[in-house]
Amino acid sequence: MQQLRLRRRPSGPLSAEHFALIETDAPRADQAPLQLQLRYISVDPYMRTRMQPSGYDYISRWGRDSLLSGYGIAEVIASCLPDWSPGDWAVGHLPMQEVIAHEGTGLRHAPPGDPPLSWLHPLGMTGFTAWLGMSYLARSGPGDTVLVSAAAGAVGSIAAQLARDTGARVIVTAGRKDKHDWLQSIGFSTVLDHHAPDFASRLQQAVPEGLTLDFENVGGEAFATAIEQMRPGGRVVLCGLISQYQQAQPRNAPANISRLSERGVAIIPFVSPNHEAHFPRFLDEMMPTVTNGRLHWRLDIVHGGLAAVPGALVGLLAGDNLGKRLVAL
Ligand SMILES: NC(=O)c1ccc[n+]([C@@H]2O[C@H](COP(=O)([O-])OP(=O)(O)OC[C@H]3O[C@@H](n4cnc5c(N)ncnc54)[C@H](OP(=O)(O)O)[C@@H]3O)[C@@H](O)[C@H]2O)c1
Repeated sequence: MQQLRLRRRPSGPLSAEHFALIETDAPRADQAPLQLQLRYISVDPYMRTRMQPSGYDYISRWGRDSLLSGYGIAEVIASCLPDWSPGDWAVGHLPMQEVIAHEGTGLRHAPPGDPPLSWLHPLGMTGFTAWLGMSYLARSGPGDTVLVSAAAGAVGSIAAQLARDTGARVIVTAGRKDKHDWLQSIGFSTVLDHHAPDFASRLQQAVPEGLTLDFENVGGEAFATAIEQMRPGGRVVLCGLISQYQQAQPRNAPANISRLSERGVAIIPFVSPNHEAHFPRFLDEMMPTVTNGRLHWRLDIVHGGLAAVPGALVGLLAGDNLGKRLVAL
């Protein structure tokens, strides 16, 4: 069977040569109570931060030869646990190898039938992150003027809809025409390009009264532009800074960060693993919007098994994806 490891840490842009696809023996069924076959693996920006030599201490770092892992869906092949039977779908943080020996802790059941891919997006980590930042922490509401960056991506697309559902005015950003078209098709009328040289003037024109809430996914220049547009007393949800993840100093703040102090803007930082206790409440609130079809969500599935993961992650960091990027095994 195959497994995917980090060959060596990147010191700049990630490329396929930083990964090693290894051929190894599959674990035996008697090695652990559960034997799983990995079917889908989520590809996420935080994977690049795990390759940094320091920081990001909420999760273990990857170095030379580390076995990679990610949120995934696996099929149970063999089980001696009463809660699990062959054919069940298990969702959890899983090693990137085709066959997995697992103790059963930290796994969630997903309903039987087709692979329930909503559990890797709106009902999974990305949906949870959007809900935590927008609904639970920032509590967006009808008086808000909200900016959501990278809104054609996984977290941004859900966060933008959650804010809109509370009656807020929502301005979204994305980096390509097909992304703009999709966002317009699901009802966002003000879509801007955070990469465009005239982004600052376009944002100023779109919200001359300023923003009360910035749901920040991008960082760098785009974040600096949003900061200039914040209204006194506003808040910034610090969800992610993806444009900085490949830099030598990925956690640097924009040069104009002190504007937030001058204007009394609150920064709300968070990482979703620190809020796991809220997951059941999130599911209670999010599940109806998924099952009744009210929430728009898109998958961006790359085929080709573990061999396709390096390209899928490199592409994600370059903005290739529209929707939640997964790799099918
Ligand atoms: N706080 C948490 O617990 C938590 C959890 C999950 C994710 N996050 C953060 O949320 C953000 C979105 O994550 P996601 O999983 O939903 O990914 P995603 O938005 O589905 O995919 C990443 C998107 O980021 C944009 N991007 C990539 N490189 C960029 C660059 N150099 N400059 C500007 N934009 C770039 C691209 O969109 P465009 O083409 O539109 O630029 C790309 O499609 C990331 O910052 C991530 O780290 C935080």
